[in-house]
This record gives sequence, structure tokens and C-alpha cells, in this order.
Amino acid sequence: MTTRIYPSNLAAFKERGEPLVCLTAYTAPMAQYLDPHCDLMLVGDSVAMVVYGMDSTLGADLEMMRRHGQAVVRATSKSCIVVDMPYGSYEESPEQAFRNASMLLKETGCQAVKLEGGSEMAATISFLAQRGVPVIGHIGLVPQSVNALGGYGSRGKDADEAKRILHDAQALETAGAFAIVLEGVQETVARRIADEINIPTIGIGASVVCDGQILVTDDMLGLTPGKKPKFVKEYAQMGEQIEEAVVSYAKEVKAREFPSEKYVYASNKKVKIA
Ligand code: KIV
Repeated sequence: MTTRIYPSNLAAFKERGEPLVCLTAYTAPMAQYLDPHCDLMLVGDSVAMVVYGMDSTLGADLEMMRRHGQAVVRATSKSCIVVDMPYGSYEESPEQAFRNASMLLKETGCQAVKLEGGSEMAATISFLAQRGVPVIGHIGLVPQSVNALGGYGSRGKDADEAKRILHDAQALETAGAFAIVLEGVQETVARRIADEINIPTIGIGASVVCDGQILVTDDMLGLTPGKKPKFVKEYAQMGEQIEEAVVSYAKEVKAREFPSEKYVYASNKKVKIA
């Protein structure tokens, strides 16, 4: 029997220098494929874009995260499951964050939640951590703030911004986050953070110096049409495979070749239909 990885187990990965394998998942079948190979699975608010075709992650809501969180937890037994807190569900006050985070923990059975933001979120993270809610922070490129930031470019390019990101990481560790996602962060900044804080850093577009890596699963499987960020490596071209399969199916249906005998329920006896 496999045992579930809990948030408190992640520090040991960093201590022994073993990178954390992390991916996103939103559905039960995908989660089942990923589970044996992942240490952590994120039910990301990227579900809004990947599954629902929205323009940004801002359209994700608690009900979406609850439903997809339940599906992923149900299909897994090993990975530490983290559910994203959607935009608008935690920024108002620590109390609002606790109300919604505790609902996600209780109703999905996930092990932790993730929320975006640096020092300004430290009091909220501390409030949650002290009340039994394990939290992952997320700094650098924070997609929920796309309107304020004016785009999805990389972060930490000038000294002031680099210093701010480092301070954010330190503030989140002090507040009680058990890991931090570094998104779109320049390598030199990511290295400084990984060296200076004791909790694991999970990079997405933040180089190999991080203590773990995460990608959006659909991106790395080649299922996302259009332009991808520089940090996305496609390990498969599943979009092309899907298209080839559908072309073959459509051809066979039009030619009345499918379903052939193998796929038909044929009775041995002659059944008379009155
Ligand atoms: O929502 C998401 O998929 C994420 C990852 C990109 C880290 O936050």
C-alpha cells in the first residue's frame, strides 16, 4: 500500500537534495495516470483556462476548485494534493481565507491549499498555518494579478524587483508556508531564494536551482494549442495524436467501416422481433 505524502514530508526532500516532481491535475483519469510518478499534484486555478477555455485564471471560483479537488483526491493515493484558492476567496481578510481554505480541506480531502502573493499575504498565511491549514505560497509571476502587472513577463529582472521577491520568500517562510512556488523568476533570484530559505521552492520557469519543478500537465503533454511560455517543454505531442485518431474515426464512420463485427453485440440465436 502506498502512503500519502503530507506537507510535513516535503522538507525532507530538500534536506536530502531530492527534487520534488509536481504537476497540475484537474480530473480523475489524469490524476490516476500522474499519481505514481508525482510527489505533489496541484489542482491549479489554471483549470479556468485549460478546462473551461477562459482568458485568465481570474474566472476560477470556489465551486470549480471544490469539484476538481474532489475528483483528483478520489483518484490518488500517493501524491500530496494541493488545491489553489481562487482569486477573491482569500484577499479580503485572514478570516475569509480561513473560511474558504477550511471548506476546501474538508470537502475535497486535499492536504493543503496554495495562494498567490508576497509579504502582503504573510498575516493571512500565518493565520491559516496556526489553525491547521498547510499553505503553499506563490510569488514572482502571479497570474491572478495579471491586470495589475500588465502581462505575464518574467520577474526579478532589476535589482529592486529581485530584492522584493527575496523579501517576499523570506516573509512567507516566516509566516509558516511549507513551500513556495516561484513562477517566471530569473535564475539568479531563484538561486538566492533556494539557498536562503529552508522550505522547498517549486519552480515553474525559475530554473533547475529550485527544489522541485511544476508544469501545467496539458502544456507538457502537448495538449495546449497556440503559443506557450518559454519554460514549457513538451514531452509529448498528444494534441496531434488526438487529431490523428479523430480523423481515422471520422473516416471509418463515413465509410461504414466502424463499428466492424468485433465491436457489435451479435446474438447467436435468431431473435424474432415482433
Ligand atoms: O494554477 C496553476 O496551474 C499554477 C501553476 C502554474 C503553478 O498555479
